[in-house]
Amino acid sequence: MTSSPASTPRPPSADRRASFEHALREAAGIAALSPSSHNCQPWGVAWPTGRDARRAVERLVDEAPADGPEAPTGIFVGSGTGGGATDEYVILALDRERELTSLPAHAVEMLVSCGAYLQVLLRSLTLQGWSTDRIHFVEPLTGGRAGRAEGRTGVADARAGGGYDAGRPLGDTWPVSWSPLCAVRLRRTGEADGGLAELRRTALARRTNRAPYRPDAVEPAVLDGLSAPSAGVAKGADVTVRHLVADSDRAAFAGLVARHGGRDFSHRQAWRETYSFVRRDEAEAHALGDGFPLSQLFGPLSTPRRHALRLALAPTTMRALRHAGYHRVLARQLARVVGPSPVVVAMGLTDASPGVEATVRGGARLAEYWLRATEAGLALHPVSVVLQHDDVRKELQDQLGLPGRTFFVSRLGHPLTDFPRSPRRIGARAVRTI
Ligand SMILES: Cc1cc2nc3c(=O)[nH]c(=O)nc-3n(C[C@H](O)[C@H](O)[C@H](O)COP(=O)(O)O)c2cc1C
Repeated sequence: MTSSPASTPRPPSADRRASFEHALREAAGIAALSPSSHNCQPWGVAWPTGRDARRAVERLVDEAPADGPEAPTGIFVGSGTGGGATDEYVILALDRERELTSLPAHAVEMLVSCGAYLQVLLRSLTLQGWSTDRIHFVEPLTGGRAGRAEGRTGVADARAGGGYDAGRPLGDTWPVSWSPLCAVRLRRTGEADGGLAELRRTALARRTNRAPYRPDAVEPAVLDGLSAPSAGVAKGADVTVRHLVADSDRAAFAGLVARHGGRDFSHRQAWRETYSFVRRDEAEAHALGDGFPLSQLFGPLSTPRRHALRLALAPTTMRALRHAGYHRVLARQLARVVGPSPVVVAMGLTDASPGVEATVRGGARLAEYWLRATEAGLALHPVSVVLQHDDVRKELQDQLGLPGRTFFVSRLGHPLTDFPRSPRRIGARAVRTI
C-alpha cells in the first residue's frame, strides 16, 4: 500500500485518504485470517487512487442498480446518484497466480474463499466507519444466462478463458494476474463503533479443526442461530443451510466419504496440487505464509513420523501405493472421524449453475456462519472431496435430498482438542493501489 507524506499540512482529502488507508490496512489484516481451500488465499484487493482507475471504477459501480441486493447493508444512499468525491472504492479480485486449478470444482471453491474474505473485509471496514454503499459484480463475458443454457456455470466459463476480461478497462496499473470479481463503493458514515477488536478476536480464534469432536448433540437453538440471516455481502446470498443430525443421514454421509474420500489421493493432478501446499514444518509454513504443515492435517507429530508421512504422501509414492489401495485406507480413516461427529452442515446455492455473484455471496455467508460457530465454541472441518467430483456430489445431493448446488460441506461439533492456527500472508500484501 502507498503511504502519504507526514510532515507538510495536508488538504482534507489527503487526511480522508490516510484515514481510509489505515482502515483498509486494518481490515485486510483481519480478512487475511479467512478460510480458503488449501489455505491458498486466492484473493486480492485493489484500491483505486489514480484518477483514471478511480473514474473507471466509478463508472462500473454506477452500473449497479440502486436497490435490491446491491445494497447489502441496507444503507444505500441516494438513488442512481454517482459516487461523491469523499467516497472510496475497492475491487475484490481473484489472483490467478494463487488459485487452485487441478479440478473444475476448484473454480467454485476459489470464489467461495474470496467471498468469505470479502465479508470479513467489508465488515471490518463498516466497524471503522466505512459502510458499503453499492456493489457491482463482474460476471464473466460468456457466463450468465447464455452459458447456463448450455449447462455450464459462469464460473467455469471464466476458467476456460471466456471471461474476467473486465480488468482491462481498469487501466495499466491493474495487476495482470488478477481477475476482478466485484467493485465496492464505501461511504464514510461515522466513527468506529468499537466492535473491531471483537471481530479480530473471533477471526483469530476461528480455524479448521480436524480433531475428533464430542459426540453429544449440538442444541437445535444454537444451530438455528448459525443459519439465521446475515448482514453485509452475505445478506443477498441465496443459500440454504442444512444441518444433518439424524443418525441415518450422518451414517449415509460417512458411507459416502468412506467410498469416495480417496478420490483426491488417487487423482494425479489434484494430489500433486494438494501436496504442493503441504509444508515440511511450521517454520517453512510460516516463511511462505500459506499452505499447511503436516501437523495441521494430522495433529502434533514426532520428527520421524513427520518424515515418514511426508514420504508416504509424496505424489510419486502415492501413485505406487494407489495400486495397493492406500487411497481407500485414507478414505476410511477420514470416514472414521466424520462418522461420530454430531452434525454435518451442507450449504447450497439455489441456482444449480451459479454465477460469480451468487458464489461470492455464498462464500460471504459461509464466513458469517463459521464466525458464529466459533463464537458458540464450535469447530468446523470441511470435507470437500465429496463435492469436487460431479458424480459424487450428485450422489450426495440425491441421497440426502440437497437441492441446488451444494458448495460447502463440513462436520461440525465441539472439538476434543485445540488445533494450531495455520499460517497467513501479511494482510497488506493482498492490497494494491491502482
Ligand atoms: C471452500 C473451502 C473448502 C475447504 N475444504 C477443505 C477440505 O476438504 N478439507 C480440509 O481439511 N479443509 C478444508 N478447508 C479448510 C482450509 O484448508 C482452511 O481454511 C485453510 O487451510 C486455512 O486454515 P484455517 O481455516 O484453520 O484458518 C476448506 C476451506 C474452504 C474455504
